[in-house]
Amino acid sequence: LASIEVNVAALQPGMSLTVKWRGKPVFIRNRTPEEVTAAAAVPLDQLKDPVARNANLPADAQATGADRSGGQGKENWIVMIGSCTHLGCVPLGQSGEYNGWFCPCHGSVYDTAGRIRKGPAPQNLAIPAFKFTSDTVIQIG
Ligand code: FES
Repeated sequence: LASIEVNVAALQPGMSLTVKWRGKPVFIRNRTPEEVTAAAAVPLDQLKDPVARNANLPADAQATGADRSGGQGKENWIVMIGSCTHLGCVPLGQSGEYNGWFCPCHGSVYDTAGRIRKGPAPQNLAIPAFKFTSDTVIQIG
């Protein structure tokens, strides 16, 4: 399927789910207010990869907490391809030093915005094209 629709009505803050899209896992997370705040507070010059890697934004968009999220009014939502940018393992959620994602293969650590913070992975987790078709439905692709 070129695109899929996912109903996220049941995802309370702090809850995540993984769906399959084009054969790859896609992580959807409803971030807590604390997670949103923590991600937004990180200075961009502390990021290994300062680019948003967000297919919904221009290629040079910066990896702010907001531009890594569902956008204005939807900053709590994270939608990312669940494939480590090192060698493609599937990172574990709510894990690692930043309580974001941790890749068990070689130790890459991603923060609550899926930005690479430590380890061998070169880039932030990729954000696919997606949009909300209603308050509770996300179309991916
Ligand atoms: Fe994730 Fe190597 S594949 S750290």
